[in-house]
Amino acid sequence: MINPKNKWRRYNTPLGICINEKCETVISEYLVPNYQGQIQLIFTSPPFPLNRAKKYGNLNGDEYKKWLCDVVKSMLPLLTEDGSIVIEIGNAWNYGEPTFSTLPMETLLSIKNECGLSLCQEFIYYNPARLPSPIQYVNIDRTRVKDSFTRVWWFSRSATPKANNRNVLKQYSKQMKKLLETGQYNAGERPSEHSISETAFNHNNGGAIPSNVIIASNTNSRDPYLLRCKEKGMKIHPARMPFEVPRFFINLLTDEDDIVMDCFAGSNTTGYCAEKAKRRWISVEADKEYYMGSKYRFVR
Ligand SMILES: C[S@@+](CC[C@H](N)C(=O)[O-])C[C@H]1O[C@@H](n2cnc3c(N)ncnc32)[C@H](O)[C@@H]1O
Repeated sequence: MINPKNKWRRYNTPLGICINEKCETVISEYLVPNYQGQIQLIFTSPPFPLNRAKKYGNLNGDEYKKWLCDVVKSMLPLLTEDGSIVIEIGNAWNYGEPTFSTLPMETLLSIKNECGLSLCQEFIYYNPARLPSPIQYVNIDRTRVKDSFTRVWWFSRSATPKANNRNVLKQYSKQMKKLLETGQYNAGERPSEHSISETAFNHNNGGAIPSNVIIASNTNSRDPYLLRCKEKGMKIHPARMPFEVPRFFINLLTDEDDIVMDCFAGSNTTGYCAEKAKRRWISVEADKEYYMGSKYRFVR
């Protein structure tokens, strides 16, 4: 890996680099000059729009939409021809009333349209363990239910980016295993108008093709990142993603040695998953304490 200018705090691992700086600066001053057309996957979860400022300075409304579109535009030259960009935007509620904000969806649409990207597929990241929110409407007024999924949009420059669902197969269900063993099932027309052939289920493909709903929670209190941050009195990132989400897209959209980038790295879940999957990676995080804490992911 090329090392960026000495002016930025950074750490390296065998396969990656994490830089502590605003991504806008790193993209224009370091990445665009050195990594044009080389990044296979940008996987990121930007600060989400809030109806009040959160610790890491989230923006609101049109200002948010424009800011994120500009960041995405500035990263496009980094992508390989068949590269992908996967963005999760958390949900938001309108200020002072129990109504759901459409800003995250509007922002995703603006990114698609203004950056001239194809939307390859929409994914849902469902977190069954998510705490009830907004508390006022869910727990106190009892007029709304728990908000527990977010949208993850997979974009690309071409309509046919590199992707292979054989790399994300799930274990077959018990029923499917049995069916493969016995070869006994009812072939023919289904009410859905699908026609199931005599041979449809008699071949073991090594696993089931997953759906576009990723179910995962951050419930592991033994995570070494958490333990080490607590031990050192560092602040723990409040919006960490479960490994399952970046891992899924890294496996689906990249091969070993490809470069994966996260420009809003937080606790650097993406870099960690990329390292484990033997991909090269680049992460950028503006907040010094989150950046420092993220190093503990790589300490044995
Ligand atoms: C939703 S969190 C990402 C969490 C991350 N996916 C994880 O698993 O830990 C968004 C992160 O973006 C960082 N951030 C906000 N503005 C930034 C900027 N301009 N450049 C780089 N990072 C920024 C915030 O400090 C925050 O840690």
